[in-house]
Amino acid sequence: MNTQPIPIYGDAATANAETKPLTWRLSRASHVLDIDLYESLEGYTGMKKALGMTPAAVQGVVKDATLKGRGGAGFPAGIKWSLLPPIDGGPRYLICNADEMEPGTFKDRLLMEKLPHQLIEGMIATGFAIGATAGYIFIRGEYVQAAKNLNAAIEQARAKGYIGQNILGSGYNFELYVHTGAGRYICGEETALINSLEGRRANPRTKPPFPQVAGAWGRPTIVNNVETLTNVPNIVLRGAEWYKGLAQGKSPDPGTKIFGASGKVKFPGLWELPFGTTAREVIEHHAGGMQEGLTLKCWLPGGASTDFLMPEHLDLPMDADTIMKAGSRLGTCLLMVVDQTQNMVSLVRNLEEFFARESCGWCTPCRDGLPWTVKLLQALEHGQGHPDDIDRLTQLTKDLWIGKTFCAHAPGAMEPLQSALKYFRSEFEAGIAPVASTITHA
Ligand SMILES: Cc1cc2nc3c(=O)[nH]c(=O)nc-3n(C[C@H](O)[C@H](O)[C@H](O)COP(=O)(O)O)c2cc1C
Ligand code: SF4
Repeated sequence: MNTQPIPIYGDAATANAETKPLTWRLSRASHVLDIDLYESLEGYTGMKKALGMTPAAVQGVVKDATLKGRGGAGFPAGIKWSLLPPIDGGPRYLICNADEMEPGTFKDRLLMEKLPHQLIEGMIATGFAIGATAGYIFIRGEYVQAAKNLNAAIEQARAKGYIGQNILGSGYNFELYVHTGAGRYICGEETALINSLEGRRANPRTKPPFPQVAGAWGRPTIVNNVETLTNVPNIVLRGAEWYKGLAQGKSPDPGTKIFGASGKVKFPGLWELPFGTTAREVIEHHAGGMQEGLTLKCWLPGGASTDFLMPEHLDLPMDADTIMKAGSRLGTCLLMVVDQTQNMVSLVRNLEEFFARESCGWCTPCRDGLPWTVKLLQALEHGQGHPDDIDRLTQLTKDLWIGKTFCAHAPGAMEPLQSALKYFRSEFEAGIAPVASTITHA
């Protein structure tokens, strides 16, 4: 077992608010749970500055900064906010997506457990910018400590007058609640999340209407990821140009990102690094390289629902465009590292079992196609595959692709499978039974 402490903030000596805006405070204290400590470390200054601006000006600076969503799809936050209809005097909501159940992804947990005030500050500033009357942090039920820390921090913020009526005399009213989910991956899909929040079954909703127009309880709603929202006060405080300048090299994605590595590296962990950092730097420098005796076989760039990349992709800058051109997606930027001892059929079967179990069952291709995928992979894993099984799996990657299913869950599930078939076909072929004519899995 790896007993090394998880290095969560990189180089403590040089971490500062200018270069590592999301995690620098963790180089001063291991947790920042107390509001006075948080405020002594520049806490709530971005929110206070926002409250002294107009909502349109706050939206403007975030739009100029081209802050991209950190929940996996990378949609620009400022553009999403601008799609809200004009304020009509009725309620409108800000929802923080803290469901984080993507295998290999654990960045939001860090931000909520250790820096709950940072998220709360981001939600108040964002709520003000979009005219939200209430905010909900929809958090994965298993994140017990994070929910506890957030609830305690909300009470501290309320006592200081940062939550509630007429915040700091600004005239802005904002309530904030923590809502724990029951631990379903599909609750991370924003419209399924809204259904769950309303007490309904967590199925995705038809879009349009988009949540910006008709979201929670039919009212205008913005859903943003934890990491997205924690960026907002820093952008307000230091400006769009500073934020854009944080990225490395020619990265078209601005700012820093919480990168991570899991798998058999020496030091699995999380590090705040500029967009444009290479996977090689993450794996070899920050994560200490592969464990003794192991070599890198392939890697997933951003959680289980992205395509595998190979060692030859290690030197590519990690930005959305570059990783897409290489045949994958940036996703959450939490790298899952695969070593040469791991069998790809078993590994993909394991991932597909997760996706099959987490299918909400609403549409047929996903509900039936994912268990069938698992069945075919199990047969190949045990050397009992039919010669047609690889073609069947290939067909499934097409039948469960974008546009064929109701939401992005099934297409996401197909990404590791299609790329494993592309790069490691021989491992699938090795699972075909020698006397296959008697075996059928159709
Ligand atoms: C199956 C599925 C699971 C998802 N899980 C999450 C999640 O856990 N956290 C998250 O922020 N976004 C998740 N998303 C993306 C959300 O639907 C949405 O795009 C995101 O919360 C928007 O926030 P952002 O623009 O700040 O990234 C998921 C999407 C799908 C299809
Ligand atoms: S793709 Fe899967 S998770 Fe999404 S609606 Fe269809 S059954 Fe549900």
